[in-house]
Amino acid sequence: MKRILLGVSGGIAAYKSAELVRLLRKQGAQVQVVMTKSAMQFISPLTFQALSGNPVHTELLDADVENAMGHISLARWADVLLIAPATANILAKLAHGLADDLLTTVYLAATCPVVVAPAMNQAMWNKAVTQENVEKLLRHGVKVMGPEQGDQACGETGYGRMTEPTAICAQLFAQTESGDSKDNHYLAGHKVLISAGPTCEPFDPVRYLTNRSSGKMGYALAQAALNAGAEVTLVSGPVALLAPVGVELIKVTTAEQMYQAVMSKAVSHSIYIGAAAVADYSPVVNQPEKIKKQAEQLTLVLQKNKDILAAVAALNDCPFTVGFAAETHDLETYARDKLTRKNLDMIAANWVGQEQGGFDSDQNALHVFWADGDKSLPMIDKTQLAEQLMALIAEQLKAV
Ligand SMILES: Cc1cc2nc3c(=O)[nH]c(=O)nc-3n(C[C@H](O)[C@H](O)[C@H](O)COP(=O)(O)O)c2cc1C
Repeated sequence: MKRILLGVSGGIAAYKSAELVRLLRKQGAQVQVVMTKSAMQFISPLTFQALSGNPVHTELLDADVENAMGHISLARWADVLLIAPATANILAKLAHGLADDLLTTVYLAATCPVVVAPAMNQAMWNKAVTQENVEKLLRHGVKVMGPEQGDQACGETGYGRMTEPTAICAQLFAQTESGDSKDNHYLAGHKVLISAGPTCEPFDPVRYLTNRSSGKMGYALAQAALNAGAEVTLVSGPVALLAPVGVELIKVTTAEQMYQAVMSKAVSHSIYIGAAAVADYSPVVNQPEKIKKQAEQLTLVLQKNKDILAAVAALNDCPFTVGFAAETHDLETYARDKLTRKNLDMIAANWVGQEQGGFDSDQNALHVFWADGDKSLPMIDKTQLAEQLMALIAEQLKAV
């Protein structure tokens, strides 16, 4: 990806896009900028002109542009259209196909991938109509990066901050750097479903049971599957990670929600990788009011959750199903037992506990088992480990 068309719309975060241009150019990209009228109230086109090294485009009806069809030539020029920040207004216009300025018209004319990085007040982001617009854009194939949670310029706290330029840049280039070449698309035509992260099981409005899973392995697998040319659906528990650009992200909180999301998608996918640390048990009662600190002892009664992996593997038309096993002892015995008991095609086992990789670590080692074989993948970065595991899955998938 070399030619990035950056759309800047009118939000406070527009100033961050200046840094974004700098970072994109540092990666070797050519950048052209389109600004909305509102954006120019927040930051001068001159800033973007100086940083991008190109004139900034602001007018749809521009007689100076050769043949007066700048929107078409800009759309054709771009390898990717990135809109950052994307206001609530621009999301609404894109979702409804309006084309009343240069940026929205370029969007309609673009055939390249489109990525938006929304930024707005948390209430604007949470408004049902904004969420509906975002869902619609996702359905139309637009990649949505962020927004992030945190303090906002308006003094409120919540989801609405634009993803930091460094993270936007890293994600845009992650795909190309780690093998976007068609030669590496060994999973082209496959749909891969991955569940990742922990689940949270509430027992009153402010408390829940969870675990230390960071989601890093599942997210790395999602990126590896994308790099291998697959269509990827990522069902994720609450994590502090950005989903790779290009995945369909389904956010869930509880084990039950994860079960429902995975089961609704499993049969339409050829591979399912259960990398989530799903809670085995959840509180029987979720109190509607906060539990008061009164009794000396408090007993929480837990019930066993549904087994997502076993349920997927038991489906009539089940995908190639890969499980994870995190063990503190007897790794092979437990992993092989889980493989056969749950009727899985493959299981990736790792040690957890002190001095090990596993949860929340950037590195990990895996011992992968299948019915008539096994392979050890040594302690390496989770990104590389995910690439190796994905290749192994593809190899075994071919063999069945
Ligand atoms: C000071 C100020 C800050 C604003 N910040 C945002 C913002 O961060 N996100 C947003 O969606 N709208 C924001 N707005 C509202 C947009 O500027 C407004 O909806 C505008 O019509 C957007 O136009 P555009 O989408 O064509 O750029 C802000 C407005 C003002 C006056």
